[in-house]
Amino acid sequence: MNVHSVTDAEFRLIQKLIYEMAGVYIKEHKKTMVANRLRKRLENYGFESYKKYYDFITRTSEGRNELIEFVNCLTTNETFFFRHGEQLDLLVEKLIPERLQTLKPKEKLRIWSAACSSGEEPYSIAILMHQKLKQALIQKIEIHASDINMEVLDKAQKGIYKPYALQKVNEFYKRTYFRQLSEDKFQISNQVQSMVHFFRHNLLNHHSQGPFDIVLCRNVMIYFDQDSKTRVLSHLFKSIKPGGFLITGYAESLFRVQTTLKYIQPTLYQKES
Ligand SMILES: C[S@@+](CC[C@H](N)C(=O)[O-])C[C@H]1O[C@@H](n2cnc3c(N)ncnc32)[C@H](O)[C@@H]1O
Repeated sequence: MNVHSVTDAEFRLIQKLIYEMAGVYIKEHKKTMVANRLRKRLENYGFESYKKYYDFITRTSEGRNELIEFVNCLTTNETFFFRHGEQLDLLVEKLIPERLQTLKPKEKLRIWSAACSSGEEPYSIAILMHQKLKQALIQKIEIHASDINMEVLDKAQKGIYKPYALQKVNEFYKRTYFRQLSEDKFQISNQVQSMVHFFRHNLLNHHSQGPFDIVLCRNVMIYFDQDSKTRVLSHLFKSIKPGGFLITGYAESLFRVQTTLKYIQPTLYQKES
């Protein structure tokens, strides 16, 4: 089956659909990337044109499940363990201890990695907690992690990674928290895995499993336009407990976005108590 190249009109339909589904705005110059990523899906169904595939996923009930694959193909999942580790150090060494002080008896401190990709971010937090906090404190903390993309969540739950993902993991952590399965496969330890609870969540939706003490939403809002960003932030705001924190990526300053969160320092925001 020979797939035709994507036309401008087809690209615009795809661009609009992924925007509506995930809030992700794909610019014109990414047209070839979009076509390449979706080609396998078209071949899978034997569609020659992107329009036929588009009609299938938007107009037929059989095509509805394929929408999930469509989103999986077009979201960017680049991540690795200890990415911008200084933010995670701040979280574990300062923000968590501070928030633990404010807990009521029996209350849990809840952390949410809100676009966790294949799990490297929440697992890095779990590793740092294990290293730096006493067991009695760890018992009081829950780590929740979500993404819109089912494929990456599946990978997160399996916990098996290529060396690329471990590029910032030092030898000691590698030995302590990973099991080497083969030359290029490493599995996260059961102990770390059991500290993270994964679920699927679209940041454009209201509902979340909040409220949380600390929310990380790093390196995802860069793919959103101003409207999606505002919408996502208003949902995140509702998911954060009074006095709780939001950590963003470095390219995601909240300037020019309507938000009632207080700026503390670059990438760190706090909800008023
Ligand atoms: C580049 S990764 C960031 C991973 C990690 N937070 C980090 O900083 O390394 C971006 C993730 O955002 C997810 N994503 C994109 N749109 C989303 C949406 N509307 N809701 C939830 N997750 C979304 C993608 O599936 C992808 O896994």
